[in-house]
Amino acid sequence: MTAQLIDGNALSKTLRAQGAERALALRERGVTPGLAVILVGDDPASQVYVRNKVRACHEAGLHSVLEHYPASLSEAELLARVAALNADASIHGILVQLPLPAHIDAQRVIEAISPAKDVDGFHVASAGALLTGLPGFLPCTPYGCMKMIESISYELRGKHAVVIGRSNIVGKPMALLLLHKSATVTICHSATANLGALTRQADVIVAAVGKRNVLTADMVKPGSVVIDVGMNRNDEGKLCGDVDFLGVREVAGWITPVPGGVGPMTITMLLVNTLEAAERAAGAG
Ligand code: GUN
Repeated sequence: MTAQLIDGNALSKTLRAQGAERALALRERGVTPGLAVILVGDDPASQVYVRNKVRACHEAGLHSVLEHYPASLSEAELLARVAALNADASIHGILVQLPLPAHIDAQRVIEAISPAKDVDGFHVASAGALLTGLPGFLPCTPYGCMKMIESISYELRGKHAVVIGRSNIVGKPMALLLLHKSATVTICHSATANLGALTRQADVIVAAVGKRNVLTADMVKPGSVVIDVGMNRNDEGKLCGDVDFLGVREVAGWITPVPGGVGPMTITMLLVNTLEAAERAAGAG
């Protein structure tokens, strides 16, 4: 059996077209949805990510500004920029690209962002809203993973979902979102004993570790749904995920590719969150 692909590029195209319509409706009311992206330092991967985020905004009719600062920027200077953007009515979403240089306390910077503009969903107010099921902003990557599962009309209720990884950005919020859909959720991590014994029981597996071949064909139940959040490089320097794609696709029922899976969906959900923020600010949400 060869798994069916869940195509993140195709789904993104559909969702971004819907986003462009929402952006147009806002512009017709005199509100141009605006995202500010702050990049500190010259990390090459971060530069690629932020460029893609800004370009996706422009393509969907959102206003986006990239503020790029040298790695020597002080924490106080960065906090002052965040405060100014909080007060800027033309900006509805603020994203500070991580990682930040070591001399800056990333959590302090995230907490300085107004929760109403926290389109990354990283603020404790957003995390608390997710935990309790209150409205807030969902972190873009797990939000995108849920949209991918939704796109195949998969019923999560009563299913066993295994999340591999426990980060604040992906693993933990992913587990909560699956729980909210009434899945039975297991969170696995680096100290988990016998990962394969758990993943073999799973109907849905989300791999979000940042390590190649964390999930191999022998660890997967036939017909399961496999979502690969990983972004790694193989020995030839090619982009690959956490999942042994060629092996696992022979066993799974559905699988997301890397590239062209979760990656574009993360950016798409950033647009969706920014539109949501602008609609709330404009009283249209
Ligand atoms: N660094 C890697 N992924 C992300 C993300 O989704 N948001 C931010 N702000 N930084 C990141």
